[in-house]
Amino acid sequence: MSKILITSALPYVNGVPHLGHMVGCLLPSDVYARYMRMMGNEVLYICGTDEHGTPSEVGAAKEGMEIGEYCTKYHNRHKEAYKAFNLSFDFFGRTSSPQNQEITYHIFEQLDKNGYIEEKSIKQIYSIDDGRFLPDRYVTGTCPHCGYDKARGDQCENCTKVLDPTELINPRSTISGSTNLEVRETKHLFLKLPLLEEKLAQWVKSKEPFWPDIAYSIAQKWLKEGLQERCITRDLKWGFPVNKPGFEDKVFYVWFDAPIGYIGITKQWADENPQSRNWKDWWLDAKDVRYVEFMGKDNVPFHSISFPATLLGTKENWTLVDYLKGMSYLTYEGGKFSKSEKRGIFAEDAVKEYPADYWRYWLMSNAPESSDSSFSFELFAAVINKDLNGVLGNFVSRVLKMTASKIASEVPSGGTPDKAEIELVNTLQEKVDNYLKYMNELEFRKALNELRAIWVDGNNYISTTEPWSVIKTDVNRASCILRTCINLIRIYALLSAPIMPETSEKIMQKLGLTLSGASLKDFNVHKEIEALKPGHAFEVGEMLFERITPEKVEELKTKYGSNK
Ligand code: 2FM
Ligand code: ZN
Repeated sequence: MSKILITSALPYVNGVPHLGHMVGCLLPSDVYARYMRMMGNEVLYICGTDEHGTPSEVGAAKEGMEIGEYCTKYHNRHKEAYKAFNLSFDFFGRTSSPQNQEITYHIFEQLDKNGYIEEKSIKQIYSIDDGRFLPDRYVTGTCPHCGYDKARGDQCENCTKVLDPTELINPRSTISGSTNLEVRETKHLFLKLPLLEEKLAQWVKSKEPFWPDIAYSIAQKWLKEGLQERCITRDLKWGFPVNKPGFEDKVFYVWFDAPIGYIGITKQWADENPQSRNWKDWWLDAKDVRYVEFMGKDNVPFHSISFPATLLGTKENWTLVDYLKGMSYLTYEGGKFSKSEKRGIFAEDAVKEYPADYWRYWLMSNAPESSDSSFSFELFAAVINKDLNGVLGNFVSRVLKMTASKIASEVPSGGTPDKAEIELVNTLQEKVDNYLKYMNELEFRKALNELRAIWVDGNNYISTTEPWSVIKTDVNRASCILRTCINLIRIYALLSAPIMPETSEKIMQKLGLTLSGASLKDFNVHKEIEALKPGHAFEVGEMLFERITPEKVEELKTKYGSNK
């Protein structure tokens, strides 16, 4: 048994998650966590809301709320949405917690002690009309690299380049829209990344055979361009006040304390149950922990460069990421999801339309892994109708109904496996091995292709063996076929569980079983195909999935802004 630490990038607390957020890190990390647990590992799966920085200040101001209350309100909304999607976090915390403050302070003190912090005067944009400095997202303008005209002061969403607000062309205040801006000098603290470059480069190099291309190439590109000192403080009210004399009126930059939040949230998890949990077992001088991070591609530089450099600079033995899964973007009908423009379907609404598993399955089989992918209700309906309703759902209901009506509501006895069953089991074992291999390698689309192929094999098997006609002349043979099919149904429930946990549980219930304690370790189809013995009772129950009609697609398109 290995210890696997899994984190999903911490979503900004402001706003509510849409399908792009779900598939960008939250859902794949959940699928992986569920899979790793079923493989018999000790998993710790951590996430939470990223609460500091300008996005929260801007959001709270817009709603006229006190910022702490605003963060609590949206933290709870995130939590609810993820619960509805069945995300199985061990803990969903907050970066604004006292635990995160304590660890952030400790890490900062270590960096300072080791000579990696430098004090510098910098030029910052000051808004005369707003009467304040405008850090990061408080400035909007044109990206100097790609020309995108809605680039934020901290990073261009379009080309992912990390920016300094003073680099923006035609800058304007995000708060008031004012262009009455000037550049003023102010004193800040910098992390001396160039001093850590060599150590970091060696560490990145050691990851080459393991990291996916997208992560490794982004990290290499940054290293090639040479690391710059990064400002880690801001002129804001909201955040952790800097624990250094002379800087008490500033706070740490959100990207300094956000990734440390993975550790802070783990500490919060441990603090709630100190007898049985120890956060250091996972993070500090931790033995045998494999750390896997999930994030959107715009987050890769922070996770492959700044955060590891921060931890290396403490000269303490913090757990560093072993595998970094960076995802591309999901677009909505080829464009952007936008709450303000009412374009796109958001997580909390999605689960009101269809059960979470419909979305989980669609999103994982269309995950933007190697390139961006696009959501549309037509594609959604096509996949659900074909794969879930047509293949999996149809197989389960056909087999159980046929057995119940022609024989009894129990696994039939009689007959022994023949050539067709031996062939089926052999090809399935190959596909199952591939499925598990792809899940291990976090190649989700490939894994889901195998899973689908495994379901299709069941349909092909029943179509060619035709138990409905065989039963007229050879009850024993038909019994053997149907017994094989019922065992296939159980196999499908187990294999599908990381992706569609609710559906898998429903299937197991039909078979009088439960998913709890179920394992995928050393999965042997030869053995599993005989797990349910003759006489084992089952229930036909309801259909697993409903068909999505063209009329419903039109209705959803109108409701969620595709017909504009
Ligand atoms: O891009 C985002 O949504 C950031 N809030 C991710 C932060 S990840 C981690 F560092 F906290
Ligand atoms: Zn750009």
